[in-house]
Amino acid sequence: MNALADAPARSEMPAPPPPPAPYGMLAELTHRCPLQCPYCSNPVELERRNGELDTETWLRVFSEAGKLGVLQVHLSGGEPTARRDLELMIGHCVAVGLYTNLITAGVGVTPERLRAIADAGIDHIQLSFQGADAQTTDHVSNFPGAHGRKLAVAREVRRLGLPLTVNAVVHRANIHQIPAFIELALALDARRIEIAHAQYYGWALRNRGALMPTRAQVFEALAIVEEARERLKGRLTIDAVVPDYYAKYPKPCMNGWGRQSLNVSPSGKVLPCHAAETIPHLDFWNVREHALADIWTGSPAFNAFRGTDWMPALCRSCERREIDWGGCRCQAMAIAGDAAATDPACHKSPLHAHMLALAETDAVTADAYDYRRYL
Ligand code: SF4
Ligand code: FES
Repeated sequence: MNALADAPARSEMPAPPPPPAPYGMLAELTHRCPLQCPYCSNPVELERRNGELDTETWLRVFSEAGKLGVLQVHLSGGEPTARRDLELMIGHCVAVGLYTNLITAGVGVTPERLRAIADAGIDHIQLSFQGADAQTTDHVSNFPGAHGRKLAVAREVRRLGLPLTVNAVVHRANIHQIPAFIELALALDARRIEIAHAQYYGWALRNRGALMPTRAQVFEALAIVEEARERLKGRLTIDAVVPDYYAKYPKPCMNGWGRQSLNVSPSGKVLPCHAAETIPHLDFWNVREHALADIWTGSPAFNAFRGTDWMPALCRSCERREIDWGGCRCQAMAIAGDAAATDPACHKSPLHAHMLALAETDAVTADAYDYRRYL
């Protein structure tokens, strides 16, 4: 007997329910940036200034985001302050009810500009530090004087009464500075520090050999973070994104593909994550041609890995499938060459040992950086 004989034809089947509204939107206003960090996760091919969305289109996108149900917008880049219309965008986001977070490297931001950004209604500033001291920040960002400028911006942010998060991207050359990063955040009166290990997509993949920490460094860092979290409870929130090369389970990247957030690139492509363009076959819809709500529900790129149906049998039958959502699609692409594979960071993946070996080899290979340059 054919068990499918009585099943409804596909066209008669009810359409799947629309996904819940996204919670956050990363607006990558530009790829222009004065720094040259080797761990940059932006694509290898940067979008050029003449391809960036104009002010009017960004304002429409923010209005649509508010209507769609987005609560928070992260204004990022590249360096978002390179856009002269930033204050206008912030004011508009506030008017349509979005919580606004500015993610900046801080090097070109004058006190006058900060005042204008504050006056426009920014809710929160996230400031990146490439090191806990001037020597490290200036070396990693390849920008002499960067650290001093960031310190000045941080003080001005607090003087204006804005909440501050210190964002520290750590890797082999600065992972030992985690205690100093935490002290720096306290000294700058930050409310939160985000300690994010470099993720190896986009440009960063080129520098994996110069960035990858050793297993011993990673485990020591985890212990330091745990101790500091306990000690500083109520004073400083410490968020840590750990590298999963040495982990047993993968990270729930983006909290699941197409579940909670979306990214808009400088030219208007809407991506499920910042590195999604490393997956070659995906079709990204653009806000120039589609409404944001239609992209969220109907874009082939968002639907490619939404939910659990796309998963390989290993994940689909696993009790963690709705905990880590199969890990990271971009990492599966980078290591397994297949974005629909189980993330090799998972110990159940047949490629897990290979990934671990890559990490252990890379952790001792190169020291020189291939700096990111916006030319
Ligand atoms: Fe997560 Fe898949 Fe590994 Fe299960 S098998 S833990 S769902 S990556
Ligand atoms: Fe793209 Fe993880 S960075 S899914």
